[in-house]
Amino acid sequence: MEIPFHKAHITEDEINGVVAAVKSGWLTMGPKTIEFEKKFNDYVFAGSKVSSENRFAISFNSATATLHLALKAIGVKSGDEVIIPTNTFVATAEVVTYFGAIPVLCDVEYDTHNIDASKINACITPKTKAIIPVDYGGQLCDMDEIVAVARGHGIKIIEDAAHCLPSSYKGRRVGTIADITCFSFYATKTLACGEGGMAVTTNFDYAKTMKINRLHGISRDAWDRYTAKGNWFYEVVDNGNKYNTTDIHSALGLAQLAKLEKMYDMRKKVADIYNAAFAGSAVIMPVIRSDRETSWHLYAIKVNNRDELMAKLKESGISTSLHFIPVHRQPYYAAKYGYKKEDYPVSERVYSQSVSLPIYPDMTEEQIRYVAAKVLEYAK
Ligand SMILES: Cc1ncc(COP(=O)(O)O)c(C=O)c1O
Repeated sequence: MEIPFHKAHITEDEINGVVAAVKSGWLTMGPKTIEFEKKFNDYVFAGSKVSSENRFAISFNSATATLHLALKAIGVKSGDEVIIPTNTFVATAEVVTYFGAIPVLCDVEYDTHNIDASKINACITPKTKAIIPVDYGGQLCDMDEIVAVARGHGIKIIEDAAHCLPSSYKGRRVGTIADITCFSFYATKTLACGEGGMAVTTNFDYAKTMKINRLHGISRDAWDRYTAKGNWFYEVVDNGNKYNTTDIHSALGLAQLAKLEKMYDMRKKVADIYNAAFAGSAVIMPVIRSDRETSWHLYAIKVNNRDELMAKLKESGISTSLHFIPVHRQPYYAAKYGYKKEDYPVSERVYSQSVSLPIYPDMTEEQIRYVAAKVLEYAK
């Protein structure tokens, strides 16, 4: 049996949406993107008390672009320090370096693979500008503790919620806690557009900076300029980027957003079967805290023979992955910033033991049970 690590859940809804977007003749950012931003905004803030004028969702062509302009919005400058977990995808570190700022790495918790909130204080200096908590696999970090540390030092929180749809923390939806929350719609994510990202914030100035800078620093976007109601005039008011998404991607996003809960239920079923199968075995299962709900973007187990297990699963036709090779182990970053393995003992343990198993809506029960059986056969 061949089981890929991931396969996007694509139905006639997505196909019809994309075809309609292409047939409309408007291929870049336009009405579909405006609709996607509005529906995403309504989704994130459903049940919150924030009025519709005070909440903003700004789309991008990736989460990397989103994180970059979120840091620009809060005013990160050369020489500033930004605290991030070392156990993350390199994008989280990379965006900090775009400003000549320094990524300060913090160790993670063994159980959740999230940043260890109790170690953040030790990372803070007078140069600390922001913290980027990364919600590993879809489970939010200890946000109350992180908010308390950040507020105590006047530090902003840019949440890397690339894995989180839908996720919640103490009854609050992801996107309603940090100063700016950044989502990814990359091909493997729980809402997949192929590529894409979204920033969510309740701060008007941050939203304005991100919106202007995602399109060359131009005061108004193409839809405003080229349509019958538009006006040709524009001004460049900042040194921006070309980070806008397209209506083709937004059509995919709209179709996926409409079935977010259904896709979640399908992934949760995979997690439930894995959990039942691995209970009482040598496999260390993902730990989800009782006060939060994960999106189940990842199902990362820990074992004592990780490399052997990955090889055996591959021989059995099962593709796996690893989240993540810590930033302090990446040659460019280690050489440039002098990170040392000894400073991140928990991340080192997590890295040496963890492997991510396939988890996606269209896995059949037969496939899920096959993966579980093979893991149990080879895990030590
Ligand atoms: C934690 C994390 N942050 C950021 C990103 C970057 O997302 P994108 O590919 O949309 O730029 C990823 C992508 O895998 C990720 O896993």
